[in-house]
Amino acid sequence: MSKQSNVSRETSARRGAETFADTPIAAAAARASESLTPGGTPPLPRPAQPRIITGANQKGGVGKTTTAINLAASLAALEKKVLIVDADPQANATSGVGVDTRNIKCTIYDCLIDGKDPEEAILKCEVENLSLMPSNIDLVGAEIEMLDRPEREKILKNLLYKIRDNYDYILVDCSPSLGLLTVNALTASNSVIIPVQCEYFALEGLGKLLNTIKIIQGNLNSDLEIEGFLLTMYDNRLRLSNQVADEVNKHFQQMVFKTIIQRNVKLSEAPSFGQPAILYDADSRGTVNYLNLARELIEKVEAKVNEV
Ligand SMILES: Nc1ncnc2c1ncn2[C@@H]1O[C@H](COP(=O)(O)OP(=O)(O)O)[C@@H](O)[C@H]1O
Ligand SMILES: [Mg+2]
Repeated sequence: MSKQSNVSRETSARRGAETFADTPIAAAAARASESLTPGGTPPLPRPAQPRIITGANQKGGVGKTTTAINLAASLAALEKKVLIVDADPQANATSGVGVDTRNIKCTIYDCLIDGKDPEEAILKCEVENLSLMPSNIDLVGAEIEMLDRPEREKILKNLLYKIRDNYDYILVDCSPSLGLLTVNALTASNSVIIPVQCEYFALEGLGKLLNTIKIIQGNLNSDLEIEGFLLTMYDNRLRLSNQVADEVNKHFQQMVFKTIIQRNVKLSEAPSFGQPAILYDADSRGTVNYLNLARELIEKVEAKVNEV
C-alpha cells in the first residue's frame, strides 16, 4: 500500500472512533451485507489463469470505467498481458484509452451478435501489454437481439474463452445496469470488483447487486467470486468519505481492497486525452493508487493459485 493510502486508512480509522452507528449509511451497509450468506465462507478459489474480472455496480459514476482503464494499464505496466473488454454502449473505456469510436470497423457488438472473430475486434493500446475489445453505440441494441438466442447469458463467455489464453487478466467494463450484458459479463468472469464511491448514496442498491451475484453463482457461474469492494473517490478531508469507508470496512471486512482510490483530478482529466493516468501523469496520486491496487490484486490472485 502506498504511503498515501496508509495515511487515508489511519485517518479513516481514527474518525471511525466517532459513532456512525445510527445513520442511514450504516443502515444501508447493514442491509447490503445481509445479502451475503451470513458467516458463509467464500466459494473455493478458482486459480486458473487468465483471470476474467468484471467491474460491476448498477450505479453510474462510481468509478467502474476509471478502474477498468487504470487497473488494466497498471497490470500491463507490471508486465501482465491485459485485455479491456468494453461492454458498455457508452464506450467510455474505448475512448478513454484513445480509440475514436467513430473509426472502429469491428466492435464487441459484431462479435456478440454477428459471430465475428474476436481477434478481428481487438486493438493494441499505447500502453505495452494492453489491448482493447472496443465498443460503440451499436451495443445499445445487443440486449434485445440476444434475448432469443440459445444460452443468451453465455454469449460473452463463449466469445472470451476463444481468446482468453492470450492474456493474464481480462477486465470487463459494464454499463450501470444489471441487464443481460452485465449478466453475460458476470457469467463469463472468475470474479467481480465492486467499486463503491465514497458518497452519500453509495451503498444504496448494493444489496440488489449482491443478490444478482448470488443468483448468478447459483444458476450460471458457481465459480464467481467477489474479488473485492473497492472504495473510490475517497477524500480524507470529508467526514462523509470516512463514514462510507468505515461502514464498508465494517460490513465487508476482508472483502474490501486495502488500497483506496482517492479523489484525484488527474484521473478525471486523463480520459479526455485518451490516456490512462499512468501515461497522462505517471506521478499522480491516481496513478500510484491504481498501481497499488494492481499489486494487491496480483498478490491476491497468486495466493489463490498457490493455495491449490
Ligand atoms: N478517483 C477519482 N478521482 C476523481 N475523479 C474520478 C475518480 N474516479 C472516477 N472519476 C470521475 O468520475 C466520473 C465517473 O467515473 P466513471 O469511472 O466513468 O464511473 P462509471 O463507469 O461507474 O460510470 C468520471 O468523470 C471520472 O473521470
Ligand atoms: Mg462507465
